[in-house]
Amino acid sequence: MSNNYTEQNWKNEMKIRLDFNNMMDKFVGEHGLSEKDIEGIENKIEKAKKAMIDKRAEGKMDFRDLPYNQGEIVEDILSYVEEVKDQFDNFVVLGIGGSALGPIAVQQAINHPYYNELPKEKRGYPKLYVADNIDPEKLVYLFDIIDVEKTLFNVVSKSGSTSETMSQFMIIKEMLEEKLGKENAKTNIVATTDVKQGNLRPMADEEGYKSFVIPGGVGGRFSELTPVGLLPAAMTGVDIKQLLAGAAFMDEISKEEDIYKNPAYMYAILSYLAMEKGNNIQVMMPYADRLKFISDWFAQLWAESLGKKFDNEGNVVNAGQTPVKALGATDQHSQVQLYAEGPFDKMTVFLGVDRYQESITIPKIYGDIPSLGFLGGITQDTLIKTEQMATEYALLQAGKINMNITLPEVNEFTLGQLLYMFEVATGFAGELLNINAFDQPGVEGGKNATYAMFGRPGYEAKKKELDERPAKEDKYTI
Ligand code: PA5
Repeated sequence: MSNNYTEQNWKNEMKIRLDFNNMMDKFVGEHGLSEKDIEGIENKIEKAKKAMIDKRAEGKMDFRDLPYNQGEIVEDILSYVEEVKDQFDNFVVLGIGGSALGPIAVQQAINHPYYNELPKEKRGYPKLYVADNIDPEKLVYLFDIIDVEKTLFNVVSKSGSTSETMSQFMIIKEMLEEKLGKENAKTNIVATTDVKQGNLRPMADEEGYKSFVIPGGVGGRFSELTPVGLLPAAMTGVDIKQLLAGAAFMDEISKEEDIYKNPAYMYAILSYLAMEKGNNIQVMMPYADRLKFISDWFAQLWAESLGKKFDNEGNVVNAGQTPVKALGATDQHSQVQLYAEGPFDKMTVFLGVDRYQESITIPKIYGDIPSLGFLGGITQDTLIKTEQMATEYALLQAGKINMNITLPEVNEFTLGQLLYMFEVATGFAGELLNINAFDQPGVEGGKNATYAMFGRPGYEAKKKELDERPAKEDKYTI
């Protein structure tokens, strides 16, 4: 490495790239977008840019400050991890939605793909499990593979009233207290919750649990870069300072006024225009197993933020774009037939990687079989990258819009950029759609019906509504 090579050089080399050539009509044909289309919404774009700046200044986009305002929190997390990591064999996250998808995505992206199966000396940190569902089998069978006494449970809930998370917590708390006694059980629980709101904060304070704070203005799906994601990440050896440094790097890029230099804004603009042209589906297709769960995390971010009935003026708009998860090359053999030849109702986003961490050469053992001989001597990373390029090309030939985001390599710095870019893009898309990207009123319907079905006080009217709904007819059940 030359003496002139600076940290900034490294950061620039690690910059993630958005290539949207295949979204443009000059390449993909009549179903593509044009620079004219972009110019056509210039007013909306300018309004959205202003809103992003104003809302940030007004403290209505607190997720954007996370790369900068968590110095003490990061130190607290790191010293806590150092203190407890050798005391526990397992770290179990009890959380759902924004409290689960980010921790899964980051751990899977950074760590060894068989992290939990590695011997502890190789891992250096506890195994990670995320108990996000309330399927009783999943929880009960977890106890077959973990010793709860050697497990640290991280209950993560901003509201402290999420039935899924809190029911699991109640089960675990009782179990720990029975096994260890009330006093000792405390050391096996760490809470991540709001600084003052909700049920979990007073519980944590009264019981004396170690706890971390989810900043008030950061909603669940934007919380990966708060202790919600940072604690599980650090607990599995992920470099959280680099994750935040990557987000800060992307924050600078995301302030760029010129949309042709701002990948977050451009991502939102292209998605918005694609929606306008009837592309109601956005497929995310990483070509790296490491990035597989980024699609899950993104699906929540995009769906819950943009899927809205009303616009900011209260008009019914039923906005949104359905995120679909795919994995390259695996889903070439499952979904790509539809993407290539099916309806013109979707855009595909490929996530690619320049440098995989491993390379393995395919041996030249079948040189005499033409359908296999060409594989001999090439590496699997060349094969997967070529298949990605070929699939992009095939969709282009089929007239199907697609774009790609490339990470020079998957590390904490590039991952921080990627997560942050998607978050800014989601906020910007919300502005273009003129909807509130930061609430989720549609989730309440199911929650309220659940409460009513259990007879929770305060939900009597909902219970009445449920009781009076038209009875189901037998002929419609086979
Ligand atoms: O994005 C969101 O706000 C949701 O997905 C929440 O993260 C999820 O519902 C869990 O909420 P809570 O943290 O209050 O338990």
